[in-house]
Amino acid sequence: MNLRRAAKSLRHLWRTSPPWPVYATLVATRMRAPGIRRRFRSRRAAFEAMARDHDFSTDWFMSRLCDWLAVFDRHPMPASPEILEIGSWEGMSALFMLSNWPGARLTCVDTWQGGPAHPESGKAASEIRFNANTARYSGRVTKFRGTSAAFFAASSVSERFDLVYIDGSHRYADVLGDAFAGFDALKPGGIMIFDDYLMSPYDGKADGPAPAINRLLADRRGRYELVAVNWQLVLRKLPGGDPR
Ligand SMILES: C[S@@+](CC[C@H](N)C(=O)[O-])C[C@H]1O[C@@H](n2cnc3c(N)ncnc32)[C@H](O)[C@@H]1O
Repeated sequence: MNLRRAAKSLRHLWRTSPPWPVYATLVATRMRAPGIRRRFRSRRAAFEAMARDHDFSTDWFMSRLCDWLAVFDRHPMPASPEILEIGSWEGMSALFMLSNWPGARLTCVDTWQGGPAHPESGKAASEIRFNANTARYSGRVTKFRGTSAAFFAASSVSERFDLVYIDGSHRYADVLGDAFAGFDALKPGGIMIFDDYLMSPYDGKADGPAPAINRLLADRRGRYELVAVNWQLVLRKLPGGDPR
């Protein structure tokens, strides 16, 4: 474990006031990381080779892959999981999910217009690449072109998904909406993953993912367990945690 990096992450986290178990899970996740990277090296190499046969201009996923494999090794998905992805971009994470779970059905929500984190993406190019990169699996993909807020407003998705991946807008208000609506959409026993938990806020204070995710963690205390905390925060909704 790199102690300087760990200390920087802890300082950053401290300012966002997470619940206490987050710290312990962060340290445990960081300590497991080298072993996880070694253990899943060949599966990562296999997916890297698959990705090279597709058309990606950017990679926001590969560095997360070994952590995902470790999570789903401990908490296997059902044979035909229902998955919701908020923020699909060119489809690299979607390609992984569709190829890793041959029975998966994936709902992808994206404006395909970029956002404050990557305004350069405000072109149709990302959607064209998404379509090409997932074409082989198109029968298992449902696309919603619009904001996640519009998706949740238009859909009745109570406890429908086995996995919810939140990787859309990183603005506080948007992540807050995605966190609560995504948690409601998650089946008991399901896994929810937030990207960029440790990202520095846009305004240096509170406009970023962590403060929003921490509000969910505080508000839904007792209804989830923390699975991993690093650049991504992973939780599992506890079976029997009834909706409010
Ligand atoms: C980091 S990229 C997603 C990367 C993708 N998950 C992967 O790993 O390959 C973030 C995506 O979120 C989308 N996005 C930004 N704001 C959004 C919003 N409010 N609702 C839905 N999608 C949004 C952007 O268009 C962009 O494609």
